[in-house]
Amino acid sequence: MPFKKKSVIIVALVIVLFIFLTWRFIRPMNIFVIDGRFSEPVITSQTPTLLGNLKAEECAVCHREFYTEWQTTIHSQAWTDPYFQADWKFDNAQHICRSCHTPLDRQLPHNVLGYRDRDKYDPIMEDNPDFDPELQHEGVTCAACHYRDGKIVGILGNTNAPHPVKKLDSANEVCVRCHVVDGDRWDTFFRFPPCGTVAEIQSSSKAENNTGELSVKDIDSLGCVECHMPAVERPLVEGGVVRQARQHLWRGGHDPEMVKKAFTADLFEQAVTKKNKRKFTFEITNTGTRHYLPTGTPDRHLTVSLRLLDAKGNIIKEESHKLKRTVMWRPFIVDLWDTRLPYGETRRYSLEYSQDRYNDVSAVEVKVRYHLVDEDRVKRINYQYREPIDYEVFSKRINIS
Ligand code: HEC
Ligand code: HEC
Ligand code: HEC
Ligand code: HEC
Ligand code: HEC
Repeated sequence: MPFKKKSVIIVALVIVLFIFLTWRFIRPMNIFVIDGRFSEPVITSQTPTLLGNLKAEECAVCHREFYTEWQTTIHSQAWTDPYFQADWKFDNAQHICRSCHTPLDRQLPHNVLGYRDRDKYDPIMEDNPDFDPELQHEGVTCAACHYRDGKIVGILGNTNAPHPVKKLDSANEVCVRCHVVDGDRWDTFFRFPPCGTVAEIQSSSKAENNTGELSVKDIDSLGCVECHMPAVERPLVEGGVVRQARQHLWRGGHDPEMVKKAFTADLFEQAVTKKNKRKFTFEITNTGTRHYLPTGTPDRHLTVSLRLLDAKGNIIKEESHKLKRTVMWRPFIVDLWDTRLPYGETRRYSLEYSQDRYNDVSAVEVKVRYHLVDEDRVKRINYQYREPIDYEVFSKRINIS
């Protein structure tokens, strides 16, 4: 009898486990923790009449150059970006994605009254009478960064602005809301959210001060605007006082020149003692960021390809490597491995060959490519791209005599 009872319990447990895992495989998935910092939209009800409907063109009337620069950036396309749109629809068009890609209340077709669940996955929504579809298409618009509680936030604080201004302690405070987001939950074993990016910075500063929150001093030293908004002396408005300002350019993974600034690299021959062997080493150091290379969504990656070429330029041997974050999504979210390059670190990849086996080598070559997203994922989410999704950022060839 006791034996029978034991097997009934085991069978029951196996069934429960099976049902649980099946549910983990098919459940709608909330892949990141919804943090209070970005779960609420920016409320714009007290907008001064001078700022009109808060569109970028309203600001452009006075701040023309800032507007022209912003228009060239991915911030102005954070909603219309075809890759975002394809991914968002593939991911059940979740409301929460809007809170960073279109953060103003007027950019949202629905207001969130509350949530049906504790994880804030399932919002209770009603139509938003103030919804402005044109403003929605501006994505991360001027007001997304500059408008708070009826005022324009800035870091100067001593200007002759016709609109109310509130002074920020640090310009990087603006970036942190969307770009440095953390989250802990029992079933997410990864520390940084999938987009919302450079949270590796927070994780490392956490280790130092153990508080979990970034203090203003930390935020000021993050350097985001120093690298992503080049300093420039110019008037803020036509004919105004010349001031220390910053270009509104935010280059990143979409810009080959920016990615090239992230590292120094070289290919060279290393001496080996083994007879008839030759060894070539490619060395890459993350010297130009303060975060990982690459950073951003886990789609971003670098590929390094080391090749032996014959006299006609045909590849006779090739070795490839990836600098990428690999995440398992189901049944649990686990950061499996991360081969990206932390700031200041050097990585070496070598290609060794025997001259007996490869006697027709005429050159050794390395090619490094940056990928916004890989082909598999593009196909899976049905993203029809027009701009290239990968490009070369480094190459070097050594001729062999
Ligand atoms: C009617 C003209 C006008 C409009 C419209 C306007 N501004 Fe300004 N803004 C100014 C002037 C003038 C200054 C101060 C220039 C100076 O003293 O050098 C200023 C200053 C600023 C500053 C610097 C504040 C600081 O202390 O750092 C920011 C930021 C700013 N404006 C953003 C905006 C944004 C965003 C909008 C649109 C939502 C906007 N402005 C609309 C005229 C305008
Ligand atoms: C309201 C949220 C929000 C804020 C605030 C914000 N960003 Fe962004 N940022 C985004 C989103 C969303 C994207 C991606 C848009 C897309 O590609 O669909 C982005 C893209 C970028 C990129 C370009 C990435 C690429 O793919 O080329 C850089 C660089 C960047 N942001 C830097 C900054 C910096 C620096 C600040 C602070 C001054 C800042 N951002 C503030 C949401 C924000
Ligand atoms: C992604 C966030 C972001 C967006 C979008 C944005 N700004 Fe700014 N802006 C900043 C930050 C950060 C600063 C402070 C830079 C610094 O340290 O001087 C700033 C500064 C300014 C200044 C003051 C001069 C200066 O450089 O300090 C003006 C004027 C301004 N922005 C206007 C605009 C206008 C107009 C738009 C829209 C066309 C816009 N900004 C969009 C983040 C943003
Ligand atoms: C020392 C310069 C430097 C500093 C400081 C820096 N970055 Fe970067 N950032 C870069 C370079 C170079 C790249 C391009 C290579 C890459 O993607 O890692 C980049 C890429 C990015 C991207 C593009 C990711 C994508 O998906 O295309 C984002 C977003 C970004 N940085 C945000 C930030 C934020 C937010 C901060 C502050 C917390 C910051 N960066 C600090 C230099 C810097
Ligand atoms: C916490 C703020 C935040 C939330 C919430 C958020 N994003 Fe993002 N997203 C960003 C930032 C910042 C970037 C730009 C840097 C990067 O590449 O990660 C970005 C970039 C992206 C990109 C890359 C776009 C490109 O041009 O290559 C896609 C796709 C994307 N997000 C989809 C989504 C989807 C789908 C959701 C909802 C499930 C979502 N995002 C929710 C902040 C956010």
